Amino acid sequence: MSTYVSRNPARFDDVVTEVPLATSADVLAACQAAHAAQPGWAAVPAPARGRVIAQVGRLFEANKEALSRLVTREMGKVYAEALGDVQEVIDTCDFFLGEGRRLYGQTIPSEMPDKQLFTFRVPVGTAMIITAGNFPAAVPSWYIIPALVTGNSIVWKPAEQTAAIAQAMAEIFYAGGVPRDVLKVVIADGQATYDGLEAALQDKLVQKIGFTGSTEVGRRLSELAGRHLQSPCLELGGKNPMVVMPDADIDLVVEGALFAGFGTAGQRCTSLGTLWVHRDVYDVVRERYVHAVERAVIGDPFEAVLYGPMIDEKYLLTHDKHLGLIQDHQTVYGSTGVGRITSHNPRAGFIGDPDAGWFAHPTIVDGVRPGDALYDTETFGPLVTMGVFDTLDEAIELANGHGYGLSSAIYTSDPKSVWRFRERISAGMMSVNNSTSGAEAHLPFGGNGLSGNGSRQSGIWVLDQFTRWQSVNWDYSGKLQKAQMDVEEMPYDPGFRL
Ligand code: UN1
Repeated sequence: MSTYVSRNPARFDDVVTEVPLATSADVLAACQAAHAAQPGWAAVPAPARGRVIAQVGRLFEANKEALSRLVTREMGKVYAEALGDVQEVIDTCDFFLGEGRRLYGQTIPSEMPDKQLFTFRVPVGTAMIITAGNFPAAVPSWYIIPALVTGNSIVWKPAEQTAAIAQAMAEIFYAGGVPRDVLKVVIADGQATYDGLEAALQDKLVQKIGFTGSTEVGRRLSELAGRHLQSPCLELGGKNPMVVMPDADIDLVVEGALFAGFGTAGQRCTSLGTLWVHRDVYDVVRERYVHAVERAVIGDPFEAVLYGPMIDEKYLLTHDKHLGLIQDHQTVYGSTGVGRITSHNPRAGFIGDPDAGWFAHPTIVDGVRPGDALYDTETFGPLVTMGVFDTLDEAIELANGHGYGLSSAIYTSDPKSVWRFRERISAGMMSVNNSTSGAEAHLPFGGNGLSGNGSRQSGIWVLDQFTRWQSVNWDYSGKLQKAQMDVEEMPYDPGFRL
């Protein structure tokens, strides 16, 4: 049996946990157990399930600091962001604890007398939830909490890099009253997960796939789901544009682009991809942005830094690969080096020991344009591309042209530009004078095109992912009344004119 060793990415010698990796048979067994437990959970009255979510929320609140410390230690985001990651779980509990007392259906009049129509939301069954390491608490909770309150059981496959966080979270769910078989956690690699899931789908054990991660894996899972006539809930990559109009507040732009581009070391699906700047303010924005990035402090994520390490070596290697896409007509800014930060490739002002972790220099690649590899590659690391435009129409074309459509932002003081951008941007989410990242936990979250299949998480909108509408008609007339045929005609005069 192979074991996964989860290390602190800021200090390799700190082993956070060692976990046996589940095989595809283990994944299948987890699906069997969750499937068997689901009817019992669905039979718990929805308000009582809502109370469990309330209890879980209280426990996340009581354990917020401890869990956030673990988030920083195991995946490397700065502690303030880790607190935010866990707060999003609490916010999601707050939102959904009341849903157990709603789960509204409708009563609808029938076209015939003595007959009534109704709709009910019914759980989909068992959901396989596969999540990435960058938001190890918030993003899984966006699936797990609404799925639980609506009466589903779950098999959760977190990123291996965040195994300890996942196990700690599962224990909080159990302590809050979620039965162990209603929420199963499997730590497995991608292939074992895929194979186990395929077998589970074959055996009709899984009715919903939820996936947050790369577009490439999303496509594979979507194909698999499609073969079983299922539509997955997908939250995939992004190449999120930030459009800066000449009337923008430049201070706000610099602050927003710094956080959007380099917060979480650029490892958010909502991170800034390309900063598109109007020609009239291009030089001033670039100069001030470069200056801010050069001065930003990087290092130990428990200290006051902009960002800490990459989630693990794999993410750093991918970042290095993307640096290889930089072309001759582009110019690099932002740091005292590129690639991994080490004592031989130092970063000015670094806090901590760079050689002990997977740290990367922030990189701004200036002069990107359509046709360049970096124009349509999601970089998912501390790399921001910059490009110029002359008109808003051109900016919107540039912002949509790569086919991703997750998040976007426009900085302007002109409402006309805001509304034009809103109408035509293809992204599922749009910020006005704000970062591309940092969505609140009760607005629909999700993307279009290469960023997803249109599914949405969060708020009331995610209920459609974890429930299906059931239509009921009840005829109490004591006779067979045939729809469309036995409907009473009300006479009218078609020739009537004033
Ligand atoms: C993600 O990176 O998968 O909007 C989610 C944000 C966070 C969630 C990001 N609230 O940046």
